[in-house]
Amino acid sequence: MKGCLVVSMYVVEGGRTLSGEVRVQGSKNSTLPILAASLLCCGESVLFNCPRLSDVDATLSILRYIGCSARREGDTLIVDTASVTRNVIPSGLMHRMRSSIIFLGAMIARFDRVKMSFPGGCELGPRPIDLHLNALREMGVAISEEHGELDCCISDRLHGAKIALTVPSVGATENIMIAAATADGTTVISNAAREPEITDLADYLTACGAKISGAGESTVIIDGVKRLHPATHAIIPDRIVAATLMSAAAVTGSDIRFTSIIPSHLESVLPVFRDCGCEIEMISGGGMVFRSPYRLQSPRLIRTMPYPGFPTDAQAPLMSAAAVADGLTVFVENMFESRYSHVSELCRLGADIRVEGRVAVVDGVRRLLSAHVRARDLRGAAALVVAALSARGKSEIEGVEYLERGYEDFELVLSALGAEMKKV
Ligand code: EPZ
Repeated sequence: MKGCLVVSMYVVEGGRTLSGEVRVQGSKNSTLPILAASLLCCGESVLFNCPRLSDVDATLSILRYIGCSARREGDTLIVDTASVTRNVIPSGLMHRMRSSIIFLGAMIARFDRVKMSFPGGCELGPRPIDLHLNALREMGVAISEEHGELDCCISDRLHGAKIALTVPSVGATENIMIAAATADGTTVISNAAREPEITDLADYLTACGAKISGAGESTVIIDGVKRLHPATHAIIPDRIVAATLMSAAAVTGSDIRFTSIIPSHLESVLPVFRDCGCEIEMISGGGMVFRSPYRLQSPRLIRTMPYPGFPTDAQAPLMSAAAVADGLTVFVENMFESRYSHVSELCRLGADIRVEGRVAVVDGVRRLLSAHVRARDLRGAAALVVAALSARGKSEIEGVEYLERGYEDFELVLSALGAEMKKV
């Protein structure tokens, strides 16, 4: 129908108990930097357990635009970077997501000159890239920034450097590791990010022949090598999707069995659910059983921190659990200035939440009620789905496009566990 705006949304009939087994998808935040890093090699890399997400598609669009070929066989991606021809990434591709900036380290390692615009991504408050740019400058890259465009070139060769990050930035640590892998000499990153996705990227680069030590710790050392070769790698499970599914189980009083999960990646998340009264049992040989109480207890205080602290990406889904828990919960969002876009929508569903700057106070209610709500970012969308699963009645959630950036076929995953959820 010409001129008619089609809005897709989720319709969720809440109040149902979930049950069964769920396999956790591959990690978005591992797949994206590893796809960019594949540019360091010349040839075919094979990546297993890659989730089907719009952010992964956006990354593949950039790879194809610069001359790579990429195909998918189920959850395996085969990327051939032999024939890269372009050293420019247009703003239309850069603006689709924040992690497009990770291409800077990979491209400058391959070309003497690279042009791209500043990245886009979820609105979580200011998201500067100064740490990325300063580090690359230390490694010999001349960078001019004009009108939102970056023009980067190296006169001689990329070289190692001692880089002390003021913030343990995930993206900056990844960009430096990628640029340093084939640079002249040794690079030392202090106050590096320690997220499991950093270790996964290091494992992939090491499989390609890189020399990296200390990934997952605060000091990472990269001894540059002349050349890397393509490799095969399996992406780790997505710990944030796992935390979201646990929130869904908790708010519906459900018992669920998780497969393809790495409990050590959730060491700051599982205790929070235990504080809520959930029981968590590890299964020998892998997997975990998650049992929820009839009524959740408030986890009292949640402060988001760099890994291994509580992940900011799980803040929103956990807030939906706190919204129906018995008691007050205080959230302190330390990572991003404005990451409470979901609060007003949770209040539409009957939650009692007050926000003051980076602090949110959640007074748990006995029951949420269905409503028509709108998501404004990825994890906020996940929080609304979790809340709607617990609310009495049929809720409508707009902003499907946000959820599909990070959750693969979420309505099918939840329906397979007994939820009444569909995309219309
Ligand atoms: C990664 O973003 C994740 N994205 C984010 O997940 C996650 O929220 C974030 O790390 C923190 O854990 C991906 O991995 C693709 P940062 P990134 O650089 O790399 C400041 C999701 O929902 N900073 O670690 O962009 C920055 O402003 C997404 O999946 C600078 O000041 O995050 C922030 O306050 C959302 N200067 C803090 O550091 C810089 O140059 C942490 O940001 C870079 C960052």
